[in-house]
Amino acid sequence: MHWCRHQPCRGRGPDQDRPVPLVSPPRRRCLHFPEGGGGPVPPPLSTLPRALPAGAVAAAGERSAMAAGLRFDGRVVLVTGAGGGLGRAYALAFAERGASVVVNDLGGDFKGYGKSSSAADKVVNEIRAKGGKAVPNYDSVEDGEKLVKSALEAFGRIDIVINNAGILRDRSFVRISDEDWDIIHRIHLRGSFLVTRAAWNHMKNQKFGRIIMTSSAAGIYGNFGQANYSAAKLGLLGLSNTIAIEGRKYNIHCNTIAPTAGSRLTQTVMPQDLIDAFKPEYVAPLVLWLCHESCMENGSLFEVGAGWIGKLRWERSLGAIVRGKDEPMTPEAVRDKWEKVCDFDNASKPRSIQESISVLNDALSQIESQGSISMNSTSSGSAVSSSLDTTNIVGRELTTKVYTYTHLEPILYALGVGMSTKDPDHLKFLFEGSEEFCCLPSFGVIPAQTSMFDGIPSLPGLNIDLAKMLHGEQYLELYKPLPTSGQLTSVSTIADILDKGSGAVLLIDVNTYCGKDLVCYNQFSLFFVGAGGFGGKRTSEKAKVTVNPPKRLPDAVLSDVTTTDQAALYRLSGDWNPLHVDPSFAALGGFQKPILHGLCTFGFAARNVLKQFANNDVTRFKAIKVRFAKPVIPGQTLQTEMWKEGDRIHFQTKVKETGDIAIAGGYVDITSAIDKPFAREPLKTAGLQSDLVFEEIGRRVKEIGNELVKKVNAIFQWDITKDGKTAMQWNCILWKYPVSILSIDLKNGSGAVYQGPARSSADTTFTLSDQDFMDVVQQKTNPQKAFFSGKLKVKGNIMLSQKLETILKDYAKL
Ligand code: NAI
Repeated sequence: MHWCRHQPCRGRGPDQDRPVPLVSPPRRRCLHFPEGGGGPVPPPLSTLPRALPAGAVAAAGERSAMAAGLRFDGRVVLVTGAGGGLGRAYALAFAERGASVVVNDLGGDFKGYGKSSSAADKVVNEIRAKGGKAVPNYDSVEDGEKLVKSALEAFGRIDIVINNAGILRDRSFVRISDEDWDIIHRIHLRGSFLVTRAAWNHMKNQKFGRIIMTSSAAGIYGNFGQANYSAAKLGLLGLSNTIAIEGRKYNIHCNTIAPTAGSRLTQTVMPQDLIDAFKPEYVAPLVLWLCHESCMENGSLFEVGAGWIGKLRWERSLGAIVRGKDEPMTPEAVRDKWEKVCDFDNASKPRSIQESISVLNDALSQIESQGSISMNSTSSGSAVSSSLDTTNIVGRELTTKVYTYTHLEPILYALGVGMSTKDPDHLKFLFEGSEEFCCLPSFGVIPAQTSMFDGIPSLPGLNIDLAKMLHGEQYLELYKPLPTSGQLTSVSTIADILDKGSGAVLLIDVNTYCGKDLVCYNQFSLFFVGAGGFGGKRTSEKAKVTVNPPKRLPDAVLSDVTTTDQAALYRLSGDWNPLHVDPSFAALGGFQKPILHGLCTFGFAARNVLKQFANNDVTRFKAIKVRFAKPVIPGQTLQTEMWKEGDRIHFQTKVKETGDIAIAGGYVDITSAIDKPFAREPLKTAGLQSDLVFEEIGRRVKEIGNELVKKVNAIFQWDITKDGKTAMQWNCILWKYPVSILSIDLKNGSGAVYQGPARSSADTTFTLSDQDFMDVVQQKTNPQKAFFSGKLKVKGNIMLSQKLETILKDYAKL
């Protein structure tokens, strides 16, 4: 969900407020975690690609199954500290799947003393014995450049860096020597920095890179006796977070893992049965998946071990404002609000520094507007008083609004959702003179949307803050094609109010009428952050629900590159929220740039489904449902993935650049063509004599268009004049040129006759009066004579007019 009307989105939406399953890490008794963690070990993720156990020789069947899985052929992987433990498992797994591997290891002991080439050599030999490609490198990660040089010299590129090398110098905090502090930081944190920096420009230039940082639960949670190690390990997370941001645009992804595995580092504290249970091979598949080119994960942190994987994120309490306007902030006020500061009810989960800072901006404006020392009710309290009887609200009519429009609004809307005259089949949505001019079905949200908001804040008993509103879901159902101009009356009603814990959801039904006819129905699902917790119900039978797409590859995928000005254009259809156009306003809400309207993405998806599965026939579009899952930045590419299941088209819209799903669980219901045959409106005429001839040509083209197309192979434009002025333009497309028109007419197996200038440039344009036209057609005048006397003007390929004669002379009898 990402669209809010008055204020940028913050916090969680209905999709995010489901309780997150809290799975404790497996119980541990190792050096890294002597305190151990409780809780059951969840089952292995069967969906994860699994590497063959290191050392195992793949049977033929296994090999072929593997070949169909995630492969790394052509990729060059550098694994630091790959002479044993986890690093060895990664190196073997990558090599098994086709990668060329640099096996780096200094070969010292677990405290970092000594060095030897044998550790790296052993693993290289293992890989080569199985037919894999590997070279050793014996340098310390402190010589980052040398490690990358090995990769370049041996394999000519570097694609993937696994920062894994590590040692321990455990001591209780006060006994840590300078040397023990420094070496831990040098190997873990600085070493990862140096190796990654050496690889960076190669990855940047090739627009591909995958990097793994190895952290530890000791860093995430702290661990007695590991202050130096904890600090370095969590430092790696900070490094990864920023690299992920800087690398994103070059397709360089960086993720962090906190593994648990039996290894040299843990064997002194782990009993043998646990060492056996926590195999490094139960960590390696996660590393491989994160490094695969198809994996879009970036900037994330995972705990992994024993075949279990969990993702971590930050959680932040709603917090409390502890000062008033023009008043000093005191420690006493902090103490008095302490419980609220530490209260994780309705907590948010900020994902970026912008989201993090937005709360401060919000707090500032609350302090400025309130002036007294108290927690702002919209942040701390419920928007619905606990004593509120929601039956007083449900069913209440909000507003009735009349939306008056001309053909301008549907055209502006069509442009706003990416339609273009470049596509000939878009013309009927963009040109009021088009014979089939009509409204996009998704335009139905526009009159409804403009009607709805006025009534919400004035609801009795509700303490609604529109600034905290997010647009969660949208449903639209059409009962007849929308008129291209006129007056539509929309009546909004509160269908239901739901308590989602972290917020309240208002379901608002809007019925839109043209006169007395119900034209369409919308259901808006609006989420008010921080307004839940009033003890209401969580679900409603009145809610139109999203449906997940089938688990097969989509039947069709259409891509649209949005323009930088997409939101600036779309907002002219009536959503004036500065969030979509003003960078400073967007920044206040935690967005790097203004975001696209969710309903704009919705419009893109709706028209793609209409085109792909209903031949752009608006009479066949029945209903659409979407959930807004992630924001889109204007300029990004939208990918609408569609699955046909009978008359229901499931779809989701992805942002191509990030892989994020912007619209989830969407569907469009269409009626089949047989139910509703395409109703063609008759050609509009201008009362000319020539109309009859063109209508007749149109009928003939429908009958024997294919034949004519082959014979004539040209586009003609007629400018018929009356009293010296151009009264009408007629076009007879008999040869399809250029490409876009060609394709459409080929599909119908014939040419077309339509009003207006040639959709692509005409081969020959004739200008003559209605009367002269009739005289030529009826062979009262010779065309050559008309031409030389100036009655007939011809532009373009004059020779083609001979072909035209063969058609026109058939009409002499008319
Ligand atoms: P390991 O001791 O088996 O592997 C580490 C490897 O790094 C060794 O082969 C060592 O020779 C090499 N190495 C050390 N200093 C090096 C240097 N300066 N340059 C190049 N290579 C060097 O230990 P394990 O368990 O496989 O650890 C791998 C990584 O996972 C480490 O970063 C460790 O801190 C981390 N980790 C491991 C956990 C576990 O449960 N095994 C828990 C949390 C983190």
